[in-house]
Amino acid sequence: MAVYVEGEGVRLRDVTLDDADLLDSWMTPEAKGSFNDFGVPRSPTDREALARGPQRNERNGELIVERIADGRPIGTVSWHLERYGPNEESGAWNVGIALIPEARGHGHGTEAQRLVADFLFATTSIHRVEASTDVDNVAEQRSLEKAGYVREGVLRGVQYRAGAWHDLVNYARLRDD
Ligand SMILES: CC(C)(COP(=O)(O)OP(=O)(O)OC[C@H]1O[C@@H](n2cnc3c(N)ncnc32)[C@H](O)[C@@H]1OP(=O)(O)O)[C@@H](O)C(=O)NCCC(=O)NCCS
Repeated sequence: MAVYVEGEGVRLRDVTLDDADLLDSWMTPEAKGSFNDFGVPRSPTDREALARGPQRNERNGELIVERIADGRPIGTVSWHLERYGPNEESGAWNVGIALIPEARGHGHGTEAQRLVADFLFATTSIHRVEASTDVDNVAEQRSLEKAGYVREGVLRGVQYRAGAWHDLVNYARLRDD
């Protein structure tokens, strides 16, 4: 069944084949944001996979963030499974987000990150939805806090980007928070 999660300013919806060119155009460092720029070339959107159906399975997923006011796609939220133990209960969804530059700073990222956690809690049995971001990415930290994620701590030297090792801050929402 197609996903359509309606918020106040944005909705989340499935990625379709019609979005392929747009997704390709969002692969630049400017569109993804400097904190998502790992200097590795991204492969073009897999159109055959998109033609097969929604980009969601038991290990990962992706949805388009669409601005309700004008129906314009403004970015993506995605998630993948992280395992903290061999049993199913010890899995967590790790979510990520990127909005195009002109859509940032209007509360849309906050709403999208709240909606994606709500969606994952409602549609899967997972206990934990987490996100991490660079210690210098103040907008994302603030946005996660406003979206109900709780700051947990700093992972030191965990990400190599822009020629240096970076610390990340970890955030999470638990089902019973
Ligand atoms: C990070 C991102 C998802 C946040 O979404 P957004 O819609 O821009 O954020 P919001 O408007 O909901 O909220 C941002 C908050 O951060 C604050 N903020 C923004 N830039 C800031 C800065 N440089 N310093 C301090 N605070 C900042 C805003 O004031 C706002 O807080 P407030 O409501 O208390 O004023 C979005 O900016 C984005 O896609 N950025 C590029 C990609 C990225 O960094 N993704 C995360 C990688 S882990």
